[in-house]
Amino acid sequence: MEIVKATYAHLDAIMDIERASFTDPWSRGGVEAYLQGGCGEILAAVEDGTVAGFAIYLVAADEGELLSLAVRGDLRRRGTGGALLREVLRRAGERGAEKIFLEVRKSNLAARALYKSAGFAVCGERRGYYQDPTEDAILMDRELGADEHIGH
Ligand SMILES: CC(C)(COP(=O)(O)OP(=O)(O)OC[C@H]1O[C@@H](n2cnc3c(N)ncnc32)[C@H](O)[C@@H]1OP(=O)(O)O)[C@@H](O)C(=O)NCCC(=O)NCCS
Repeated sequence: MEIVKATYAHLDAIMDIERASFTDPWSRGGVEAYLQGGCGEILAAVEDGTVAGFAIYLVAADEGELLSLAVRGDLRRRGTGGALLREVLRRAGERGAEKIFLEVRKSNLAARALYKSAGFAVCGERRGYYQDPTEDAILMDRELGADEHIGH
């Protein structure tokens, strides 16, 4: 498995995973915007020529935000989500982020466990943040230490 910067060649597979993973998926245009560079980036985990998962994040000034992370349903629990998350932390640190934030549905215990194991801590809640179904968001953050600043 390798983690690469996603291109248009990965977009169909990313949208399949996005739609299968979330009840309120992003539109194709919304995802596509992050393929075009700027302050955001999409990473794809590629295994045997197919996309196993992806992560979308951005860095603005000294803060990063994890915007989306998903792994194909039949390929979960094999370390792909963790590998994508570690690469986001590394790249965000390299791009100057001192801290990274994320939001996660309160009921999403799998993702919350993954984030906790990667050093994120709960720092707030946003009531009714998600639609379809309406649900509170848990806000988590993590400082980016010296290990993620390699290259600076
Ligand atoms: C959350 C998600 C990305 C995790 O991807 P993954 O490839 O299965 O994650 P990993 O195999 O790297 O798991 C790493 C750790 O996270 C935790 N974890 C992952 N899935 C879990 C689950 N279903 N239940 C409990 N803990 C879980 C475990 O601590 C796991 O380590 P372990 O397998 O050694 O116990 C995946 O479940 C997914 O795509 N879910 C749907 C989309 C989603 O909810 N994305 C997050 C939005 S905020």
